[in-house]
This record gives sequence, C-alpha cells and structure tokens, in this order.
Amino acid sequence: MKKDIQISYEYFKNSSELSDIEKQLFERAKEARENAYAPYSQFLVGCSVLLENGEIYSGNNQENAAYPSGLCAERTTVFWVAANFPDLKIEKIFVVGGPKEFHEKNPPIPPCGACRQSLMEYETKQNENIDLYFSSMNEEVVKVHAVKDLLPFYFDSTFL
Ligand code: THU
Repeated sequence: MKKDIQISYEYFKNSSELSDIEKQLFERAKEARENAYAPYSQFLVGCSVLLENGEIYSGNNQENAAYPSGLCAERTTVFWVAANFPDLKIEKIFVVGGPKEFHEKNPPIPPCGACRQSLMEYETKQNENIDLYFSSMNEEVVKVHAVKDLLPFYFDSTFL
C-alpha cells in the first residue's frame, strides 16, 4: 500500500510581507548572525525565539577547532532558552543563515537534521506546534507551521 506525506509551507518573496512580530524576529536573527563564531566554515547562522510571554531571545552558531564539538545556531539558542525558561512555551523560531560573503542568490537555509530532532523535543514537550521560519539574507522566507512538518516519522518520547 502506497501512502503519501504532504507538508504545506508558506513562502514569502520578501520580508516586507511578514507581520510586525515576524519582522522583529527576522531582524533579531540577522543581528545574532553577525556575532556567530564560525571561523572554520565562514558560514554564519542566527536564530531568534519568541516565547509565549512576548520576549525574544537569540543566538548563533558556535564552532570549535575540534569540528564536531561546535553547535548550530538553532540548538545554541533553543537549549539556552529551555535552560532558562523551562516553563514558557516557544511560539516561533526564526533562522537566518548564509556564507559570510553573502551572495544575492543564496537560498533560505533550512535547519539541519540534528537541529530538527532537537527542536522537535520542545514541540513535543510543550504539546503545541512551533512556527518555524528560515531565510537567507536576501529576504526570501519559508515558514512551516510545526517542526514536525520538517521531520516526517519523527522519533519522540511517546515511543519510549
Ligand atoms: N549551521 C547552523 O548553525 N544551523 C544549521 O541549521 C545549518 C548549519 C552551522 C553549523 C556550522 O557552524 C556551519 O553552519 C556550517 O555548517
């Protein structure tokens, strides 16, 4: 029996189409990207998180001379948020990435597989979907309405 999985997403050709809070998140992620520590890849990623109380926190990728010891922007940010505000739900996550020498044609940067799994943990924990946005610096934005949309057949605590 053949089955299909479908996901829907929103595509914004320009960030001017975003709502005010989405624009704020975009700006905060871009600002955070500037402080990324990525001397090895020269690929800078920023991430911002909107909590249910309206506060926004941000972070970026942190690399390491022992390459696998570094961490992506999404996990750096969300782990910090979860460590400090364990009882507040995450409403939105915005990711902005691209090479340091940015080129107009660079496409929106989707979260890597390990980040999808890590973010999924918090969506499961809070039992509420998280809007996830990803973008390049050229203002194109993709939005999915849940982390699980980017992770079909996800593994979570319900299987344990
Ligand atoms: N990176 C992120 O921060 N997030 C992603 O989702 C993709 C990759 C970082 C990891 C590494 O520091 C650099 O980008 C190049 O892979």
